[in-house]
Amino acid sequence: MKFSSTLLFMLTPAMVMGLLDQKMKAKGKRYFGTALDAWHLSGSDQSNIKMIAGADFGAITHENSLKWDAVQPQQGNYQFGNADAVVNWATSNNRLLRGHTLVWHSQLPQWVHNINSASQLTQVIQNHINTVMGRYRGRIYAWDVVNEVFEENGTFRNSVFYRLLGENFIDIAFRAARNADPNAKLYINDYNLDGPGPKIDAMIALIGRLRSRGVPIDGVGTQAHLILGQVGGVQSQLQRLAGTGLDVAITELDIRIQTPVTAQKLDQQYSDYQTVTRACLNVPRCVGISVWGISDKHSWVDSTFPSYDAPLLWDDWFNRKNAYWGVDNALN
Ligand SMILES: *[C@@H]1O[C@H](CO)[C@@H](O)[C@H](O)[C@H]1NC(C)=O
Repeated sequence: MKFSSTLLFMLTPAMVMGLLDQKMKAKGKRYFGTALDAWHLSGSDQSNIKMIAGADFGAITHENSLKWDAVQPQQGNYQFGNADAVVNWATSNNRLLRGHTLVWHSQLPQWVHNINSASQLTQVIQNHINTVMGRYRGRIYAWDVVNEVFEENGTFRNSVFYRLLGENFIDIAFRAARNADPNAKLYINDYNLDGPGPKIDAMIALIGRLRSRGVPIDGVGTQAHLILGQVGGVQSQLQRLAGTGLDVAITELDIRIQTPVTAQKLDQQYSDYQTVTRACLNVPRCVGISVWGISDKHSWVDSTFPSYDAPLLWDDWFNRKNAYWGVDNALN
């Protein structure tokens, strides 16, 4: 049995444990992924993070280090150190990468907010996309080309992009993106697309217009920053997004719990994660799910929603939560 003993020797502990991504692929999907940044890979929790990311996740999204303020804080001054660290880790560990994000009104440096000429802004968008996507050409599987363009009422957000260029800023961004890396999957991404209402209606209508104008777009990402007990609409809205003819992905999943966190709420979280995972499995165009981090200890929820907590699959001490087993159960 030389072959199998050699094979066993080659399997790292992480691969032996490797579960969620493997199970997701066995269901015909591309990946089960997570978000992280360079500091996760170098900080005091790095061994837990690398072990878990290696074991359960087949796709990595930069949580912050590919955003505009991180990579081009001043015009023409590109800073890729942190983004490179994530790309290098993911690539050397054979993970897919989702690039997040190119054109977004938030975490956008002041020099871009200050632009007041449409032609200058067009060039700035094109240069940013060419430079950032070009650097990683062939290594990032999918990009969130534009992020969060809509208000909750379905009108376009009053960003510098929309003020100077109207809806056309989206066309400009996607055309530049296709040009910069022709093989990358190009996504539009937003949150609160998990229930019916004017926002998802506006998204579906926009996708229709983009497609009729021949804008190169491949997918729509629904972030799915959810609240415990409010996940029942996910599958039907995912189905509506898939009805546009694009791929769909759940890109930033977390399910936050209003404090105090109780055992009963953590049980509910098992069932909510199971429901969301099944939603992707039940929608053929859903290519994958990414959760927005590994441990509750590092979630953005703590600072952004102080009265909520515990949104992820591992607790503050890197123990698997009931939520993890909810995903696992849906995938079995
Ligand atoms: C939509 O919402 C935005 C942000 O709250 C607001 O500024 C705008 O006036 C609203 N538009 C309509 C038509 O209600």
